[in-house]
Amino acid sequence: MTARNSEPPLLDVKGLTVEIDGRRGPAVVVDGIDLHVGRGETLGIVGESGCGKSLTMLSLMRLLPNKIRVSKGTARFDGRDLQTMPTRELRKVRGGDIGFVFQDPMTSLNPVMRIGDQLCEPLIYHRKMAKTDARKRAVELLRLVGIPGPEERLDAYPHELSGGMRQRVMIAIGLACEPKLLIADEPTTALDVTIQAQIVDLVKDLRNKLGMSVVWITHDLALIAGLADRVVVLYAGTVVEDAPVDELYANPSHPYTRGLLASIPTLSDAPAARLSSIGGTPPEPGRRPAGCPFAPRCPLAMDICRRDVPKLEPISSGGSHRAACFAVNKALKAA
Ligand SMILES: Nc1ncnc2c1ncn2[C@@H]1O[C@H](COP(=O)(O)OP(=O)(O)O)[C@@H](O)[C@H]1O
Ligand SMILES: [Mg+2]
Repeated sequence: MTARNSEPPLLDVKGLTVEIDGRRGPAVVVDGIDLHVGRGETLGIVGESGCGKSLTMLSLMRLLPNKIRVSKGTARFDGRDLQTMPTRELRKVRGGDIGFVFQDPMTSLNPVMRIGDQLCEPLIYHRKMAKTDARKRAVELLRLVGIPGPEERLDAYPHELSGGMRQRVMIAIGLACEPKLLIADEPTTALDVTIQAQIVDLVKDLRNKLGMSVVWITHDLALIAGLADRVVVLYAGTVVEDAPVDELYANPSHPYTRGLLASIPTLSDAPAARLSSIGGTPPEPGRRPAGCPFAPRCPLAMDICRRDVPKLEPISSGGSHRAACFAVNKALKAA
């Protein structure tokens, strides 16, 4: 499902810039990114570890750790500015209209609190439910995310569940208040492949049932192929390419996206070709090169790439597919 053009997006992020205080002063880690998510739409955010995915998400909810702050940009949710909204208002949105699933359930579930109480908390706080109703709803939620014997699980502590079951509990908490938007930050990274696939199917199913929007953050382009409507590719805190998902797979343009796709093994690949991937590592915060941040690793880098920062520009006629790359633009002009 894609957003109808007349409707403003549910989430609209413009020029979001995040800085970290370092020994040599502030270093930019998220560099003016633009994102939007329509109602009912699923946006995939993809990039290697360290490219700023989690900080982007945390900054939306004003949950950034110490010494890290938003220095520029706006983030509007349902027409309201998340950055300037009074904290009291923001608390109502967090866990209410915006549900979260964090990367690591062992650090985000409370280890000394029973599963049932952790599920009931948002229902009591956001939806003003009575304790008994909240417990009934908690059982429904556990059933919804495929946890067997939900009544008995209410009294369990997180360490009594397997990794896959804990992740399901996290998703149940994220969904507790039937959010308009679910933001999931690498929710399956710690899990084995079959459970990953089950969780992706589960979120797809719930999204269709509840009509919510989803932002799914991952380093794994293959994982979101069947889930996302659109994909944003992040590199070193900048958007290097965005496109509808089918278009991105059919016609990946930025050399970084192509590199990410080349790292995905396919059945037809010869064994030797399977592990082709991008050499080198992304720049550390504070050590971003001049020009395009990907230039030092890019097989197509030209002089201009080491000097100027490429802008995100449409590369398809409808404008829904964009890339920030001098080489791509040069090739388009030549064609
Ligand atoms: N609490 C922190 N203190 C200092 N640097 C941090 C902190 N959290 C993240 N970073 C740095 O910011 C960059 C982006 O981090 P993050 O958003 O967590 O990346 P991702 O989620 O894409 O793996 C990384 O280089 C990381 O080392
Ligand atoms: Mg992360």
